[in-house]
Amino acid sequence: MKRVVVTGASSGIGAATVKRFAELGWQTVAVARREDRLRALAAETGAHIIVCDVTDEAQVARMVAEVAETGGATGLVNNAGGAVGADSVEHSSNDDWRRMFEVNVIGLRTVTAAMLPVLREGAGQTGSASILNLTSTAGHDAYPGGGGYNAAKFAAHAVTNVLRLELAGEPIRVMEVAPGLVHTEEFTLKRLRGDAEAAAKPYVDVTPLTAEDVATVIAGAFEQPAHVNQDLIVLRPVAQSSVFHTHRGPLVPKA
Ligand SMILES: NC(=O)c1ccc[n+]([C@@H]2O[C@H](COP(=O)([O-])OP(=O)(O)OC[C@H]3O[C@@H](n4cnc5c(N)ncnc54)[C@H](OP(=O)(O)O)[C@@H]3O)[C@@H](O)[C@H]2O)c1
Repeated sequence: MKRVVVTGASSGIGAATVKRFAELGWQTVAVARREDRLRALAAETGAHIIVCDVTDEAQVARMVAEVAETGGATGLVNNAGGAVGADSVEHSSNDDWRRMFEVNVIGLRTVTAAMLPVLREGAGQTGSASILNLTSTAGHDAYPGGGGYNAAKFAAHAVTNVLRLELAGEPIRVMEVAPGLVHTEEFTLKRLRGDAEAAAKPYVDVTPLTAEDVATVIAGAFEQPAHVNQDLIVLRPVAQSSVFHTHRGPLVPKA
């Protein structure tokens, strides 16, 4: 039995990850708040869908109970997350910071804690289970305006490392994928509160990663032999050599 729960599966990287796992023959459970989008994904992939806000503990408990009742799980991808605002530390709002911490950090912890008994059961049956957390290069390098998103993703990175230490001795690997610039439909639009013109700018004259690129890397980490734990995978577009260096225009070999 290979069954993976993917949070934040209604768009972007999460939806692409469900599709990739389905292509590889995994059973998938797609979790998010927007039911209409989950239904469309289910029609395309055969995913079992569960509507759930990962920041609501009661909803998470119900979601995990449904996972257990419908076949359990051997994998979890904590992908639900995102950024709210790009304001300086001085001028940002605590409400935005709380929203980012709620989904990127506390939601990740809530889902992970609730899923662990189910994953242990899956590992008991199959020999192994896997947890993979989606952080970001923003969880490793600070940048001006990164503020609450930097802080939340640094925290998600730390939680991943703590969890790996705490699960030592169990057949459960704990992995992190930290992408750089990924062009998904909603991420920057939501971050910039619906300003479509500003949201288009980061992707001008550059070939960013796609959701499918990231999904392939996530699923690839799960497909490694069970004794291989890819602790941290950082992936960026070739045109982006750091959070501060994005090359615009064609990539050409030096003469
Ligand atoms: N795009 C990038 O450049 C980039 C780069 C590095 C890392 N990341 C990270 O990758 C992950 C996915 O990003 P993306 O680009 O695919 O963004 P996205 O399209 O905005 O996807 C975010 C997903 O999270 C879900 N979500 C948000 N809040 C939730 C909640 N409270 N409960 C349940 N689900 C929730 C959303 O679905 P609902 O609204 O339907 O709940 C959506 O499916 C995020 O963790 C993001 O921080 C993105």
